[in-house]
Amino acid sequence: MCLGQSKIRLESLREKQYDIGQKGLVIYMKKILDLISEELKNAFEAAGYDRELGRVTISNRPDLCEYQCNGAMAGAKQYKKAPIMIANEVAEKLEGSKVFAEVSAVMPGFLNLKVKEEFLTSYLKEMAVAEKFGLNLPANPKKVVVDYGGANIAKPLHVGHMRSAVIGESIKRILRFCGHDVIGDVHLGDWGLQMGLIITELKERHPEWVYFDENFEGEYPAEAPFTISELEEIYPTASGKSKEDAAYKAKAMEDTFKLQSGVRGHRAIWEHIKNVSIADLRVNYGNLNVDFDLWLGESDVHDLIPEMVDFMKESGHAYISEGALVVDVKKETDTKEYPPCMILKSDGASLYNTTDLATIMDRMRKIGPEQIIYLTDKRQELYFEQVFRCAFKTGLVPEDMKLQWIGFGTMNGKDGKPFKTREGGVMRLERLIRETTDGMYQKISENQALPEAEAKETAKQIALSALIYGDLSNQASKDYVFDIERFASFEGDTGPYILYTIVRIKSILNKYTEAGGNVAACVLADAANAAEKDLVKELAKFNTVMESACEELAPHKICAYIFDLANAFNHFYHETKILSETDEAKKAGWIALLDLTKKVLETCIDVLGFSAPERM
Ligand code: ARG
Repeated sequence: MCLGQSKIRLESLREKQYDIGQKGLVIYMKKILDLISEELKNAFEAAGYDRELGRVTISNRPDLCEYQCNGAMAGAKQYKKAPIMIANEVAEKLEGSKVFAEVSAVMPGFLNLKVKEEFLTSYLKEMAVAEKFGLNLPANPKKVVVDYGGANIAKPLHVGHMRSAVIGESIKRILRFCGHDVIGDVHLGDWGLQMGLIITELKERHPEWVYFDENFEGEYPAEAPFTISELEEIYPTASGKSKEDAAYKAKAMEDTFKLQSGVRGHRAIWEHIKNVSIADLRVNYGNLNVDFDLWLGESDVHDLIPEMVDFMKESGHAYISEGALVVDVKKETDTKEYPPCMILKSDGASLYNTTDLATIMDRMRKIGPEQIIYLTDKRQELYFEQVFRCAFKTGLVPEDMKLQWIGFGTMNGKDGKPFKTREGGVMRLERLIRETTDGMYQKISENQALPEAEAKETAKQIALSALIYGDLSNQASKDYVFDIERFASFEGDTGPYILYTIVRIKSILNKYTEAGGNVAACVLADAANAAEKDLVKELAKFNTVMESACEELAPHKICAYIFDLANAFNHFYHETKILSETDEAKKAGWIALLDLTKKVLETCIDVLGFSAPERM
């Protein structure tokens, strides 16, 4: 009997629709490797062996075969048989398979596999019409908060802020694309000593302002008495002074205290500081294509703190140590030191910890997430471990809550030290984006004459792809070298190369349409050559890659995938004269393939956080 024909009916890929799979996924389309493995498993079983031996992997010798199965080697001991004998028996059962064009048992017992073009075509046809290209969606979507960005009020964004924003944005989009219910929160630093410092400095400069008149009872002006550039100059000045002058620092601490305890004038001037700064942050994050659902900050949970403190005291976990209120977070199994988590300082003031814990309490009440993901640089590892332990121990979150911290590495210059401007200062994000965009504008202007407005917009898009892809293509936890010449190149593993590939496809599709063709009506056909088959196989990996990027919160996996996909496409493109093909059905098949490639690439860059222009 020929199993291939009886067990897998390609037409029935959709049969499994809305089955709940092992991981609680709604199985819409099986993964290509699972389908292939299933065929092998059936053959192992039919030959009298354990079906689990039939696991298939992508070949590590693409010159010999496309996929391979080493199950016969694994089964040799169990069945006391030479592996090649098992492999031969399995290969026999696969004769006439609808999936395989070639199955060969080779010494000492490998099964080398080549799949049929028709099998791939039918898979791709399903994929092309499936929602989200056949991605399996969760039966029970998770509610997730992504806490990223982490900007501080009145401090300009610098390159260090780019990683949190870009990685967090992509993780948010990946989770959302994969069917989860995701809320992004910027979690502004808007409440600590830095606020007091700014108020102190403003008071030094403008003691006559009504905000500082304690007897003032009227309405404060609606208009802020300063601009963002003034604010940005004030913070470093104040911070510098406080380091040298103890009396100044004491004033700043007092102003922080007054602000936090609700003194009217302090609150009013702080509102201005916050509004002016947020307006600027919106522009800057907007330029990065980063967008938050919530613009909450540390200050928003201030009023929750007393209640949280009571809760922690009542649960018996928080106690006074040297005047401060602390919670022990060390565990017996620890191999390193975990200092207690400080909830309130001895003067009653709250800390970074306090607001993070109160924010957890607030999110649990108002949003009720099952998972919170934080993005900060690697140096905050111990801090988050303390906060998480404290949240679990005191019962702020249930045991099955997932609190997850992703620490990212440093963005270094070519000298291996944290990235700086040419003059050696801290690089502001605004300047980085501007300089990259200007450079890109020149580059594309040399290539072709686009209308001014389009050239500007296109330069912006390509520059953003260079920055975002340059960052995301590295595993988040690793440090990386920021090399704008490399990132901005139209060749190699770069964002602009991906965009260039998309633009190339768009241009072919446009020409096809201009010549009277109807792209939407084109039907995929079986691959006619090796390059085309490679492209088809890359496309078929989409759901596998997206699912694993989502599970591992790993945007770099999507980058690696689209780089392979773009390479496969460009290889095919160079081997094939598409538009001059005279066999119309063949041409239409290619057009359909291009259209799908374009859509998959566009979907992927969208979850990475950038987009492609029409031409470049
Ligand atoms: N504002 C903080 C900083 O500049 C980052 C905030 C990160 N998020 C958090 N929930 N603690 O370091």
